[in-house]
Amino acid sequence: KNDIIVSPSILSADFAKLGDEVRAIDQAGCEWVHIDVMDGRFVPNITIGPLIVEALRPVTDKVLDCHLMIVEPELRVADFAKAGADIISVHAEQSSTIHLHRVVNQVRTRAAAAARALARAQSQSQTQSGYRIKDLGVKAGVVLNPGTPLSTIEYVLDQVDLVLIMSVNPGFGGQSFIESQVAKIRELKKLCLEKGVNPWIEVDGGVTPANAWKVIDAGANALVAGSAVFKAPSYRDAINGIKASKKP
Ligand code: DX5
Ligand code: ZN
Repeated sequence: KNDIIVSPSILSADFAKLGDEVRAIDQAGCEWVHIDVMDGRFVPNITIGPLIVEALRPVTDKVLDCHLMIVEPELRVADFAKAGADIISVHAEQSSTIHLHRVVNQVRTRAAAAARALARAQSQSQTQSGYRIKDLGVKAGVVLNPGTPLSTIEYVLDQVDLVLIMSVNPGFGGQSFIESQVAKIRELKKLCLEKGVNPWIEVDGGVTPANAWKVIDAGANALVAGSAVFKAPSYRDAINGIKASKKP
């Protein structure tokens, strides 16, 4: 896991031509596609549901990295898995779910079963992009808001494939990076080493080619970028710029 993953957030894409936008970031060399799911309750904005994930699934065979900013994600996990999500990340805050440990395990078990059913269906008819599920499991992620301490996830750390540190308060693209989260990433990296686990460490919010080096240096290896990719003249240059980010 030493290579840096860039996961462009389609929240900043042109929604009127979403398929073309996803094809464009795929061809520009992104590894993952970040999908921000908001319900207008956990966060003050409403965005994407499982129908959109399902519509995008045949467009790319890149990893669909689904970030659920919703209340009661336990009620939606199976829908997102069926729609073709590869990673399902849920927030650790109790205003999202009361039973974090349970929902994380739901992603890894029941969701995986749903995805397997989908894979079976797809082996009959190949999709537009030639996409087929290779890894039948769905990866589970846990997300921390900027104000939420790391200790919240200490006892699910051995259960997750990914930890996402929010470097803005979730709800909107184009906000500025909250510097205090760099220390949290560094602490998380340390905690993972202590516990002998190696989840992806993902960062989301205000990441640009100018500041990505800070989070990479702190231990992050998956970087979400919305406006820094979709508002850039060249998606490829923006993605490469984030990977090659260096301390000035
Ligand atoms: C914020 C979302 C982010 C957002 C990032 O609620 O979770 O994924 O799209 O956008 P930028 O990179 O513009 O801050
Ligand atoms: Zn996000």
